[in-house]
Amino acid sequence: MSRPSMSVRILILVGGMAAAGSLAFALSNARRGYEPRQPILFKHSRMAGPPVMVKNDKGEMVNAGGFNIPCLYCHTMPYKGRHSTVPSTAVCMNCHSTVGLNREWVLKMKDYWERGEPIPWVKVHDLPDFVYYDHSAHLNAKNEKGEPKVACKDCHGEVEKMDVVRVQNAFNMQWCLDCHRKKEMAAPTDCVACHR
Ligand code: HEC
Ligand code: HEC
Ligand code: HEC
Ligand code: HEC
Ligand code: HEC
Repeated sequence: MSRPSMSVRILILVGGMAAAGSLAFALSNARRGYEPRQPILFKHSRMAGPPVMVKNDKGEMVNAGGFNIPCLYCHTMPYKGRHSTVPSTAVCMNCHSTVGLNREWVLKMKDYWERGEPIPWVKVHDLPDFVYYDHSAHLNAKNEKGEPKVACKDCHGEVEKMDVVRVQNAFNMQWCLDCHRKKEMAAPTDCVACHR
């Protein structure tokens, strides 16, 4: 049998590399670092971060930092339901019907509101559907001293310092298990806990 032609050999090689690459990706499948561009430049650092008072050119004290709005003001569900929620524009309008009306992105947000369209926020964290994950089970879990076992930052990092939300951990199976296996977590490691 004659040897495959050069072009066929190259095709096989490229195909093999692609298959090996996708396998490696499926196994590691790290989501860390994913930071999609959002339709509105909404800064957690400005809304949820701590205030930083500075003097402006007129000598007045102004807040160049954040407004310390609690996570749960906007993400209302994590202690009650499987999913946390991204707030509807109505929540933003509680303040922005009167505040920040000289800011470009606040005006763009108001355009959505006036057209009656939801803001098409891009999901940052998104596990495959065959994985069962429940926020409330995590956030309500207490150790024997009655303290919460986990907080938002253990999984999402310091969101209040971010201008754009970025995935801070691998969010793959290994990452879930690494925490579940810690003695103090006493969390399930059997397959059906997460694949039901
Ligand atoms: C003023 C309302 C508001 C506050 C306060 C707020 N967030 Fe958000 N959050 C949003 C909006 C709007 C989005 C969607 C846009 C984006 O991803 O930046 C979002 C997105 C997120 C996401 C990514 C969601 C996804 O798609 O995976 C996480 C995680 C998050 N917030 C955590 C927090 C934490 C932790 C705090 C408190 C430190 C907090 N947020 C405070 C409004 C808020
Ligand atoms: C509790 C009140 C409050 C809520 C709720 C709120 N904001 Fe704000 N926001 C503020 C204040 C105060 C400022 C600062 C305005 C200024 O600098 O003139 C601001 C500023 C902003 C800015 C401009 C930031 C900059 O530095 O240019 C954007 C964009 C913004 N908010 C978007 C949102 C969105 C989107 C939501 C809903 C998810 C939201 N805000 C909810 C109070 C709020
Ligand atoms: C044990 C880890 C963990 C903790 C603690 C945690 N989250 Fe999450 N969060 C996740 C995972 C995993 C997802 C992706 C869920 C999915 O895609 O089904 C997620 C998704 C989100 C989303 C996107 C909407 C959704 O539910 O898919 C928001 C918003 C969010 N988290 C906010 C918060 C806030 C606010 C807190 C603290 C009150 C918090 N999270 C605590 C792991 C965590
Ligand atoms: C930072 C630690 C931590 C991480 C990361 C983590 N978990 Fe958990 N998980 C816990 C704790 C703590 C509990 C509750 C244990 C208990 O019952 O007190 C728990 C419980 C669970 C349960 C059982 C809750 C129920 O409703 O039956 C499931 C399912 C689960 N986790 C899935 C996941 C998945 C999927 C991931 C990864 C995407 C993940 N967890 C990441 C700490 C973590
Ligand atoms: C604590 C939660 C958790 C437990 C326990 C768990 N898994 Fe997973 N598993 C996940 C998550 C999260 C993913 C999604 C990984 C991704 O997309 O990066 C996953 C993905 C998978 C996949 C698909 C792999 C891929 O790359 O697409 C298989 C197969 C799987 N798990 C089998 C198992 C088996 C078998 C067990 C028991 C030995 C188990 N899992 C236990 C959370 C868990």
